[in-house]
Amino acid sequence: MAAALQANIRPVKFTATLRALTKQSPAPFRVRCCAVNSAGKKRYNITLLPGDGIGPEVISIAKNVLQQAGSLEGVEFSFREMPVGGAALDLVGVPLPEDTISAAKDSDAVLLGAIGGYKWDKNEKHLKPETGLLQLRAALKVFANLRPATVLPQLVDASTLKKEVAEGVDLLVVRELTGGIYFGEPRGIKTNENGEEVGFNTEVYAAHEIDRIARVAFETARKRRGKLCSVDKANVLDSSILWRRRVTALAADYPDVELSHMYVDNAAMQLVRDPKQFDTIVTNNVFGDILSDEASMITGSIGMLPSASLSDSGPGLFEPIHGSAPDIAGEDKANPLATILSAAMLLKYGLGEEKAAKRIEDAVLGALNKGFRTRDIYSNGTKLVGCKEMGEEVLKSVDSQAHASV
Ligand code: IPM
Ligand code: MG
Repeated sequence: MAAALQANIRPVKFTATLRALTKQSPAPFRVRCCAVNSAGKKRYNITLLPGDGIGPEVISIAKNVLQQAGSLEGVEFSFREMPVGGAALDLVGVPLPEDTISAAKDSDAVLLGAIGGYKWDKNEKHLKPETGLLQLRAALKVFANLRPATVLPQLVDASTLKKEVAEGVDLLVVRELTGGIYFGEPRGIKTNENGEEVGFNTEVYAAHEIDRIARVAFETARKRRGKLCSVDKANVLDSSILWRRRVTALAADYPDVELSHMYVDNAAMQLVRDPKQFDTIVTNNVFGDILSDEASMITGSIGMLPSASLSDSGPGLFEPIHGSAPDIAGEDKANPLATILSAAMLLKYGLGEEKAAKRIEDAVLGALNKGFRTRDIYSNGTKLVGCKEMGEEVLKSVDSQAHASV
């Protein structure tokens, strides 16, 4: 790993319960620098991509929380909202307009809501909202996707798994995000010599792509509980054979990390059988997509889980792992916590503003401790609130920290 990248690995201390959600210190990536204004406040440019469905609702809340937590730490933001996904298709006919790419590249970090919806489901592939998201990941070169799944004590009853299985789960999926079958060539749908249509994609990984994601995973595992499980399908796939060989070779550089390997089918089973056996999981793009959704369910709701997608130098992309939920869009029913926690990851991993990040994590816990729950995490005896009210409660919680510290 380049020295410049290593220089940014800094230990951090957390005390809150949410510590586990994002406790690994900034991964080996360069955090963004900022301008300092005349009042001595740091200023960052953030591109907001609300997208589709519940995206705009959750982004407007996360924006307020970000602003509020930042202001308590002498950090200011300038926000620029740009279209992506279906919203961009409706506006300019493509899912990722050039202007959105340049704004994202020019900013210090990008916060995305969600993309997709019934309206565009039948579009040709290059005009699907999802294509815009994949293009954005490629344009920003965000190859490392960190998806934490932590069962909070406050929400253990929301898990579909038995309490004793779910309690205390704290794992992190490190998903390779810009390679593999999502991007491999050749790909397409064509007619073969028998006149029959065939659809095909290519799962392909070059050694350097495996090495760089594996290093991120080793570094991250080292700052967690020191256990890394590499998930592949090396009993069948050639790309997985190379994956396993490269990951195994790198282990020599990380003698303090305990490396294991698991086939993906077994990993899917073990995640619901005994999820506590996992600390950090590293895997390819498509396995990571599937396993991170599965892991999210252990925690009770996909509406709680944030993610960070990082490159080795440019701005990071931060987004909740849930989708656009078109069935509840505009109904004030969405859970904004995954996006609020993504804003905390943005502060911590994207900007190195760990104090402001912690304010947000603590505020989320504060709102949960007071018993506020959106529909997806509601249980008897708690207070059912909508998206806006949950956002207001988190904001109040940020404010109360300010008063507590005066
Ligand atoms: C995710 C999503 C995306 C993916 C889709 C929307 C393209 O499922 O971020 O997990 O497959 O990567
Ligand atoms: Mg997914």
